Amino acid sequence: MTKQFKSIFALLVLISILIPSASFAEDYIVKEPPKSLDKLYPPISKEPKWVNQMHKVSGTLNGVLVNVKENDWENAEKSAGLFAEAYEETSKLVPEWKDYFDNDAAKKFAETVKTRDAGKVWKAMGSVGKTCGKCHKENNVAVWTKYSWPSAHKIKVSDPVSEEELKYGKYMWKITGSFNAAMVNFKDGQYDRALKGAKNLKSRIQGLKSACSKCHVDDSVKNFFVGPNVTKALDSLQTELTKEKPNPGVFWKSIGIIGKQSCKRCHLTHRSYAIIQEVWENHDH
Ligand code: HEC
Ligand code: HEC
Ligand code: HEC
Repeated sequence: MTKQFKSIFALLVLISILIPSASFAEDYIVKEPPKSLDKLYPPISKEPKWVNQMHKVSGTLNGVLVNVKENDWENAEKSAGLFAEAYEETSKLVPEWKDYFDNDAAKKFAETVKTRDAGKVWKAMGSVGKTCGKCHKENNVAVWTKYSWPSAHKIKVSDPVSEEELKYGKYMWKITGSFNAAMVNFKDGQYDRALKGAKNLKSRIQGLKSACSKCHVDDSVKNFFVGPNVTKALDSLQTELTKEKPNPGVFWKSIGIIGKQSCKRCHLTHRSYAIIQEVWENHDH
């Protein structure tokens, strides 16, 4: 082998060690969590029992790690025993998830702590830790979407323009209608209709504020998406449209601010979850 070839070869070997499986493109599927998890979360269970169980396994595992680092082997052994118990207990809670657990690896880990050989302990911990990581990677987003993210589909908003009580999604179509009316009529030079669209858009974006408190207790969130910057842009649309010769530069700049700072940013933070939930709801019915 030439020197250059050797170093390229060494580099390839190194790369393949550093990224063991990342080189396979995997699809990420957000599958609805198993039914039996329901009983471990509100409203069926008073406490979020699964989360509490996670604190139990991670608390006892951390007990091992901290004590091994401090050479406090007596307490490390105690924690290791409790960890293996908690881990096995957890493996029985959700039958659909039992294959994520490796109870033998957890027991072996607890045994390894008794050798008081830190190197061996880290290695044994690695095989248990992998089981935690695999399940988190595959399930956390789905579990958060199901049990932590309130459903927008259950919220109604009262429309200040038509005075109807509308589902959140329907209300969004009304907002879209006003937004489009402002833009299309402006392009057509029909400024009076564009002004009506802009006025309705402002009322409807302001009307959305009443929905925030269905999920948020902190009013300061209203500085975003429906806050002062967006209100200023909504007002500037109306000012421009009441002029004899509206300035397209000013009009489109305000449209851009509304589209990005209101619609797009709110969708980026709130809508992905609603989309996932909608797919699951359609599955169920
Ligand atoms: C079979 C799946 C599964 C396994 C195995 C698993 N977890 Fe979890 N874990 C979860 C899920 C799902 C969540 C998210 C729960 C939530 O936020 O509602 C979670 C959350 C956590 C949390 C955060 C809790 C919080 O307050 O948000 C910690 C810490 C944790 N797990 C530690 C561990 C450790 C340590 C192990 C391994 C010893 C482990 N988990 C094994 C599924 C698993
Ligand atoms: C369907 C429920 C729901 C509605 C309605 C809702 N939000 Fe949220 N929003 C959430 C959740 C859940 C989060 C994630 C973090 C949390 O719980 O605060 C979040 C996060 C946010 C964040 C990120 C910062 C933070 O405080 O968490 C902002 C800003 C925000 N929302 C603004 C708003 C505004 C403004 C409205 C009303 C116009 C609104 N939200 C309506 C559920 C909602
Ligand atoms: C405060 C947050 C927020 C703001 C601001 C917002 N949206 Fe939405 N939008 C949502 C959420 C959440 C959904 C998902 C609703 C659902 O699935 O029920 C949504 C859904 C939609 C939908 C799809 C409706 C459906 O039935 O699936 C459209 C279209 C839409 N928004 C347009 C807009 C436009 C245009 C603007 C700006 C002029 C805007 N939205 C501003 C949060 C927001």
